[in-house]
Amino acid sequence: MLADQERAGLRREIEPFVALGRSGLLPALYAAQQLHGWLSEPVVAAIAAALRVPLADVHGVIEFYTLFHNKPVGKRILSVCTDLACALRGGDGVLEHLCRAHHVRPGQTSADGGITIQSTPCLGLCEQAPVALVNDQAETHIDVANDSYELGRPRSIVGGPLRLLTANCGHGTTSLQGHGEYSAFKKALAMKPEAVVAEIKAAGLVGRGGAAFPTGVKWAGAASADGLPKYVVCNADESEPGTFKDRVLLIDDPHSLIEGMLIAGYAIGAERGYIYLRGEYPYILPVLESALAEARSAGLLGTSLQGSGFCFDIEIRLGAGAYICGEETALFESIEGKRGFPRVKPPFPTTYGLFGKPTVINNVETLFNVPLIIQRGAAEYRRIGTEKSPGSKLFCVSGDAGRPGVYEVPFGITLRELLDLADGVAEGRPLKAVLFGGAAGAFATSAHLDVKLTFEDLRAAGLPLGSGVVMVFDDRRDLRDLLARLGRFFAHESCGKCYPCQLGTQRQKEVLERIAAGNPLRGDPERLQDVGWTMTDASLCGLGQTAATAVLSAIQLWPDLFRPGRSPVQDSGRGRAKASPPPRRQPRKKTKPGISRRLAKKTIARRSRAGASATRSAARKPAARRPRADQKKVRRSQ
Ligand SMILES: Cc1cc2nc3c(=O)[nH]c(=O)nc-3n(C[C@H](O)[C@H](O)[C@H](O)COP(=O)(O)O)c2cc1C
Ligand code: SF4
Ligand code: FES
Repeated sequence: MLADQERAGLRREIEPFVALGRSGLLPALYAAQQLHGWLSEPVVAAIAAALRVPLADVHGVIEFYTLFHNKPVGKRILSVCTDLACALRGGDGVLEHLCRAHHVRPGQTSADGGITIQSTPCLGLCEQAPVALVNDQAETHIDVANDSYELGRPRSIVGGPLRLLTANCGHGTTSLQGHGEYSAFKKALAMKPEAVVAEIKAAGLVGRGGAAFPTGVKWAGAASADGLPKYVVCNADESEPGTFKDRVLLIDDPHSLIEGMLIAGYAIGAERGYIYLRGEYPYILPVLESALAEARSAGLLGTSLQGSGFCFDIEIRLGAGAYICGEETALFESIEGKRGFPRVKPPFPTTYGLFGKPTVINNVETLFNVPLIIQRGAAEYRRIGTEKSPGSKLFCVSGDAGRPGVYEVPFGITLRELLDLADGVAEGRPLKAVLFGGAAGAFATSAHLDVKLTFEDLRAAGLPLGSGVVMVFDDRRDLRDLLARLGRFFAHESCGKCYPCQLGTQRQKEVLERIAAGNPLRGDPERLQDVGWTMTDASLCGLGQTAATAVLSAIQLWPDLFRPGRSPVQDSGRGRAKASPPPRRQPRKKTKPGISRRLAKKTIARRSRAGASATRSAARKPAARRPRADQKKVRRSQ
């Protein structure tokens, strides 16, 4: 039972969300958790009653999302990334060291309730590995041996020959004044909405979230769909392991995103937009909130903008730790206050999206292209890139690259050229493999270095562009260990709605862990293929359909890896990006007292909380099973 005073305090915190009903559930849970540290039974019951949501449903939601706690947790929650890029830089060692220092095991809370230490999947900070999240702050470049790290706003490491999408990135958050008062939006307002859609179509803009769907076609669908109100949703969930480009765009240039959403809203006739921000990016939330406030006070959000009669405003929703919520329909469910279960499609979001209304959902990077296209015109935009892949692309280069970071390049440069920009393989070592497209992606080798980075060339090479992940592994790396981590990731993130994925990801994980431990059973490679093809064919959404893509590509490239005995795969290094890259850049580090002592002293950072088609084109059938001509593409969005 809550005491009267506690009840009143809770009511005050969740009051702003009560009028939203069920859609206010996630923000209300965040507000309550911020107040009490965790979500006890009486608190949950009070929220259920206030929002008029069945109690069992509220429990279901809390259990679904990893960032909600139904048991007491430490005042500080230290989530150490042990995903691929961090594992390469000693992420496991960081976790072990911290657990030892605080006398806890991973997932446990210290006896005095001061700290909970846990491992976490990719935090979207891979280029600064190894990393952790300490309550709301990013801790990057952790170096246990030297007791050093960087804490606070993560750096934006941006490179490449083009600075179109990243023009305002790399030097802190760009203010409205620095960005300029939305000249592209003002230009769009002087056009007819149909003309804006036509311009986006003419530019050939293709979605950058992974499904590679033509943006203009999507917008035209929503614009002509019956039903009001309509919505624009920005997918800022960025949870694909190895992806961090949207983080850089959001934190450094929030006004380009707002401007892109405004133009989308005007084009399709929507008055409301949502930014669904990844829960593990809490430090971006205040940046977005203050950019929205700046835009409102400049009359760039609100009613009858620029005297046009067009009204538009944007609300931020914070995700709560579920990779599946990047899938567009799962994301809608999450905004609606439910567990993030993907919907069966069709109907597609353009006709039946958020709250069952016509919706355009776009990735952050996609929306960044919109002001550029309107400002320059489609013809000028198409001068960059290739005929079928116009524009520039952001690649997230991480792992054993000499200089990990976000690289903006024109579509059409080769993988070799991209790796050269990133100083090749660190320490001049031979290249073993590149994981392309993220956990849901596929492996490339030095044989692929001359493949052009375009939608069409990558498709022909059987490599997914996905969200632009290029994770580099040198010749020392144990791919079996990396594959086991991928297996654990998908088994953990499968939402469980359909059996092929629910069971398949578990079986895949078990087999990959056996192989990584050097104890494969007879028939394990065949078992992996069987499970993988079944998931690819029969899963409901893109998660299951791509959960085996990397494993199947590895079986095809390195069959010996899956047999008994440890025979590290050696790539000849032929054609490697650079023979002798310059020495690795020394990160700017603040040297601090020992990590364990420092952590013991940290104060509690309190969270301030406010308030999907989609499958990836990545999932092509591996050629091992069928000839490439027969490869079936996974169902696309619209
Ligand atoms: C499991 C899964 C996770 C996804 N995660 C993201 C994500 O984090 N960000 C994103 O933009 N798209 C993600 N997508 C793709 C979205 O469903 C959708 O296609 C995209 O947001 C559409 O935007 P675009 O047309 O601008 O690419 C994901 C898809 C799946 C199946
Ligand atoms: S494929 Fe996996 S993530 Fe997608 S609905 Fe099925 S169980 Fe859920
Ligand atoms: S932040 Fe650790 S792997 Fe991405």
